[in-house]
Amino acid sequence: MVEDKTLSRRSFLKFLQKILAATGIAAIAGPIVAYFWPTQLEEVPSEPVPVGPEGSIPVGEAQVVRYGRYPALVINTSEGLRSYSAVCTHFACIVKWDPELKQIVCPCHEGFFDPLDGSVISGPPPRPLDVIPHFVKNGTLFIGGEA
Ligand code: FES
Repeated sequence: MVEDKTLSRRSFLKFLQKILAATGIAAIAGPIVAYFWPTQLEEVPSEPVPVGPEGSIPVGEAQVVRYGRYPALVINTSEGLRSYSAVCTHFACIVKWDPELKQIVCPCHEGFFDPLDGSVISGPPPRPLDVIPHFVKNGTLFIGGEA
């Protein structure tokens, strides 16, 4: 007696139903698991964070770098590199580099910061941006940590 090994329509639909049920459960369970066990991101990294090769940021431009939970802004000013936390000191919006204004701008409430020292030029921020130290080691620019 020869057994028919072809997949019947009914078995295929049952198989498809199980796949869709498993996908649905994963789609619901994934965010729940992520909520209770979030990825471990340090507030401020304990180790230096690489930015890129030395000299990779042209004068007048900036690079955004992930720095722990928040981004950092590394700017190559006409007076050298400066790096700051990109978190505005007003209500924690993320600041951006404006290459035309040559200022650091917070889009939320029009806060403006000086790229040379992070001080407030105008707007509601109560204090300067947090400075992040930077250094070059073996041709790579790092921010944070110790040299
Ligand atoms: Fe930046 Fe208000 S959050 S100016």
